[in-house]
Amino acid sequence: MSLPSNVNRRYITVAAGILIVLWLWVAFDRPYAPERLWNTNSGIDSTKTSDVFDFPPVRSEAIQEVCGNTEWNSSLIFTCDNNRDGIGHVRNSILNCARFAIQAGAALVLPKIIARQSTVHSDPETDTGLGRRRGEVLKSMDYMFDVDHFVQSMRLSCPEMLLIKNTEQHFSDRRKELQPETLVLNRPITGMEHPESWPSLFSKWVEDHIPPRHEEGTLKTEPIVIDLQQSFLSYPIHSDGHKFAHDFGELLKFREDTRSLATAVLLELQEWHDMDGNISDSIITPSFFGAHLRTSEFGEHLDRRHVAPAPFMHYDGQSIAYLEHAGAAQISLMYVSSGNLLDVERLKKSALGWGIDITHKHALLKGKHQDQLRSLTWDQQALVDFLVLTKSQEFAGVGHSSFSWNIALKRQRLEQLSGQEVGQAILDEEGEWSDGLSTLYGVRNGYVESAQCMWE
Ligand SMILES: *[C@@H]1O[C@H](CO)[C@@H](O)[C@H](O)[C@H]1NC(C)=O
Ligand SMILES: *[C@@H]1O[C@H](CO)[C@@H](O)[C@H](O)[C@H]1NC(C)=O
Repeated sequence: MSLPSNVNRRYITVAAGILIVLWLWVAFDRPYAPERLWNTNSGIDSTKTSDVFDFPPVRSEAIQEVCGNTEWNSSLIFTCDNNRDGIGHVRNSILNCARFAIQAGAALVLPKIIARQSTVHSDPETDTGLGRRRGEVLKSMDYMFDVDHFVQSMRLSCPEMLLIKNTEQHFSDRRKELQPETLVLNRPITGMEHPESWPSLFSKWVEDHIPPRHEEGTLKTEPIVIDLQQSFLSYPIHSDGHKFAHDFGELLKFREDTRSLATAVLLELQEWHDMDGNISDSIITPSFFGAHLRTSEFGEHLDRRHVAPAPFMHYDGQSIAYLEHAGAAQISLMYVSSGNLLDVERLKKSALGWGIDITHKHALLKGKHQDQLRSLTWDQQALVDFLVLTKSQEFAGVGHSSFSWNIALKRQRLEQLSGQEVGQAILDEEGEWSDGLSTLYGVRNGYVESAQCMWE
């Protein structure tokens, strides 16, 4: 794919051949199971509970319909390599790339992830999570996700899209960066008002920025490569219908080792904490109270414009809210996700007075599981928490975190998949958002509005 701008026709043919070979490599059809449920309803027997978070590739009629109605353009290739920060941001950004690529009818090069380098602390007692920003490295998508799942799901749900395994950097006036939503001038907090107008805005932008150049009387055939820049809350996910919105997020499944570590956490909870519920259920009841204690100064903000001093930005506000909530719900076990283990210890002491037992992944995982966990980076370890928290009896988090939001939205989705009704979420005057499954503290109207652009 490294085509200089004056490349001759023979090389173009060679490049096209390589593309096709890569496509065949990537698109090779593998067997799949027909259902697609997050939990093990698809017949995994109860003795084989090494991964209760696995689910088969997505075959979505809603996505098939959108892809079937798309005009595909064989001379357009999108890359999606600028995906950074925590899982909430990376996940949404990659799904946006896929959505914009469908809009343009473009081929998509398998996305990459910019990993924050972490100092992996060997001693969880001293791990404050503060040492984790040390430069960046570009990783393949499997840094967080199951690549095979993505490829197979795209093959089943959007077979028209060409997926390309890799491209090299090359300079060409037919290659440009673009932050896709910037083509739309009016972007309310609820996302682009008319995503259906994006393809024509994009064509116009290509006309203005990429020379069509004629050579020897014929149109140049070198493909146009667009390097998509990170977009976060920009695409209104329900604009293609609720079914599409529900299915699209399932194109991404977390990598296998984080799923089995999360399963191991649940098994440890069962063994050591008298947890009665069935860990194969999408939400385990009765089980534990899941809390996202987000007190480190690092990490993601849902929307930086809204960050202002507020009680739930800090340890005191969060710890009191979570303990009161768990107390009121009469749940005596709390699983805490936090990048700041010193604060988890603080919470553990405060919780004594409430008769609530506090635990976390480092305390639960033993032996080879503990080693495996420690071999992961901070952002990868967070995937284990994400999964465990999706299954908690009740979940509480904070409104300014995309991690909290993504878990709350995923829980709604899982509950629907298991055939349950999900109530309308309510935001009260104190900024407490609740849908009966999850509660987020310190929520403003703007967060709720922009959450319409977060893929479930
Ligand atoms: C847990 O649920 C799964 C799937 O719903 C079921 O197959 C299994 O028998 C259940 N296990 C127990 C112990 O009830
Ligand atoms: C593909 O997209 C480019 C850029 O928008 C455009 O110039 C070209 O005409 C399109 N080709 C087809 C077949 O639609």
